[in-house]
This record gives sequence, structure tokens and C-alpha cells, in this order.
Amino acid sequence: MSIIDIIDKKRRGEELSKAELSEIFLGYQSEKVEDYQMSSLLMAICINGMTMEETLTLTDLMLYSGQKMDSSKVEGLMVDKHSTGGVGDKTSLIIGPIMAALGLKMGKLSGRGLGFTGGTIDKLESIPGFRVALTKEEFIYDLNKVGFTECEQTPEFTPLDKKIYNLRSVTGTVSSIPLIASSVMSKKLAVGADFILIDLKVGSGALIQTKKEAVELASTLIEIGKAYNKIVIPVLTDMNRPLGDNVGNALEIIEAMDVLKGKTGVLRDLVIELSSTLYSRAKKINLDVAKEEVKKCLDNGLAYEKFMEFVKMQGGDIDKLELASVMKPVYASEEGRLKDISAREIGRLVLELGGGRKKKGDAIDYGVGIVINKHIDDNIVKGDILCYLYQNDELDRTDDVLKAFTIVK
Ligand code: URA
Repeated sequence: MSIIDIIDKKRRGEELSKAELSEIFLGYQSEKVEDYQMSSLLMAICINGMTMEETLTLTDLMLYSGQKMDSSKVEGLMVDKHSTGGVGDKTSLIIGPIMAALGLKMGKLSGRGLGFTGGTIDKLESIPGFRVALTKEEFIYDLNKVGFTECEQTPEFTPLDKKIYNLRSVTGTVSSIPLIASSVMSKKLAVGADFILIDLKVGSGALIQTKKEAVELASTLIEIGKAYNKIVIPVLTDMNRPLGDNVGNALEIIEAMDVLKGKTGVLRDLVIELSSTLYSRAKKINLDVAKEEVKKCLDNGLAYEKFMEFVKMQGGDIDKLELASVMKPVYASEEGRLKDISAREIGRLVLELGGGRKKKGDAIDYGVGIVINKHIDDNIVKGDILCYLYQNDELDRTDDVLKAFTIVK
């Protein structure tokens, strides 16, 4: 069947065979299929979905577009964690060091920003010198040495996911259950941890907006895990509001470090919940016991030390982290109670500031972003600083920022 016929078949909502999926996806990998043809197929998948059989085939194609890591070379119990994407979501940068501090191994393949949601690889790349592309040997070496390592898709690790992921990010084709599930699971299966925790974000600032879709995605992820003999643990978490105070690549690195140094609040609470769930399942211990151990290694600084070891091991110089040159406070124009902060609006603003990509290959401005200065239910007086914008231009974005904050009498 020709590439055009395959696209047209999916447009009609029909199931594609293994051979047809291989033809078009491997054709895209080898550059015989063009971006515009793949974009068209991805949109048809977004609209018409995929069967479980198709989703498994796509996962397999992505997984074996590269190689699987030899997990027998990793010393100790391996766990993994992945988020389905949100705004201000820097949990991996805290959970990885916690797992390492607890004596587990967490080697993670991650992606860049997807649509208006941020990606851990872009955040890490904001640290001057940090190497996000590792060879298989470096990945295993760093993992055994530090206990936590994180890198992007490379020619060795799920290169097909990288191509598709980058295209989805700029073609409005991110919010599709089979595309998210195959993308996430191909990366998790390439590393091969036995326990995989999925932070499944639901809400206006996530790729998945409704509970119904979240439940469907969770069961798809579990099914894929079963097919490869892996335990997938989905945890549904709220993403209607930005997670934590800082949104933007370098700013999120700073907040992750703040939590590792003892900052309290919603972000720390979520990190403790996710870490203890993963730790208790992997070690087969009681959840409350796991929670105490997780808190201990946050409070005694061991997880922070692991983070610093991880950054150094991958060549990063945290002292050279730079923020944008202009910091503009945004003042409240009315008084009342802060009822809501829209994660989607904040995510879009950071994208507009240059913190994300609008086109394939766009350069990122790592230092831009937003630091939120008020919390939900705070009483606001006219003139209070709601947030600070970090930007590298002088544009006045006050009206757009105010739209993200709902203040009620
Ligand atoms: N994370 C991924 O790796 N892929 C997606 O599609 C969404 C989140």
C-alpha cells in the first residue's frame, strides 16, 4: 500500500496492519516519508485513535528503532518514573535523586517540551555544560556511580520516538492516548526497569484534560507494560494549576533544588507521595514506612547531594545557571481572594516568552519564565505582586498575565 493510502485508511478510521504501520513509521525514520505526511497521519490518529494492537505495534517500532539497555549491567534494583506532561512539573529532578539516596537505581529517558508543557531535557539543558545525550555505556556507568541518570532519546535510544515527539510538539498532535502511551512506554522499555511509576497529569495544563481519558490512558499504559512483563503504576494527579511556584526551564531547576534543600508546599507533598508509592512497591514495604524514609533523605540533605553528583557527572555547572535579564513584577489590579491560577495560560505565556518551541528546531530561551508569588486562597490587595516575569525583552505582557489569575470578591 502506498504512504498516501495508509494515511487515507487511518483517516477513514480503519485499523492499520503491522506491515502498514512499519511501512510508514520506519519510512519516516529513514526519511522516505516527509514531515507533512507524518503530520497528517498523526492528526488522523489523534482524531480516530488506535486499537490496542496498533498501539503495541507502534510501541515496538519505537522501542526497536534503537536498542534496549542491558539491565543486567545495572547494580541493584531499577525503578523508573515518567510524567505525561504538565506546567511547572519538575518532579523527576527531585524523585530521581531521592531514589538514588534510597539506594535504588533510576535511569530515565526523557523528552523535551511538548506543546505548551515543559520537558525535563530542556530544563536540564539550561544548566551550562550539562550533557543530555549519553551513549549506552555512559548511561550505565553514570547510573551505577550516582544512582540517577537522565538523558534524551539518541540514535541508540528510541530515535523514532524523538522524531515523532518533536513533530507532535509543533503540529497540535500531542493529546492522543495511543501516541502518548507508545511514546512514554517505548522510552521506559528501552531502559528496562521493572517498576515504572507514571505521574498521569489531568487538567487544563496537561495533555489529558478529563478523568475519563486519564483512566483510559492509565489502562493502555498498564496493558503495554503487561505485554513486556513490566509493572506500571499510574497515579492520577491534578494539573489544573501550575505545579510549584516556578515555570520556565532554569527557574524550574532552581525550584527543584529548593525542594531538595527543604522548601515545603504542594510540590514537596506530591514528590513525597510519588516517591513513596514507587519505593514501597519496588521494595515491597509499607507505604507509611516508605514515606518516612523518603522524607528523611529529603531532610538530611542526601537527596540534594545526589542531585549535585548527578549534575556534575553529566558535565553541568550549576553555578553558571542564568536567568533572563529583565525581571518584571506583575501587580494585582483588583482585590479579593485568589481562586485560581490557570496552568494552561501560564504554560502558554512561558512559550510566548521563548521558553518553548512554536516550530520544529526553534531555539529555547532557557532563562525566561514566571515565578508565582501568591497562592490559592490568599487574600489579594490591589497592587500586590502576583508574579514576576523573567524575560529578555521589554514587552509589557501584564494583560495576558492577569488573565491567568482569577480573583473573586
Ligand atoms: N511524555 C512522553 O514521553 N511522551 C508523550 O507523548 C507525553 C509525555
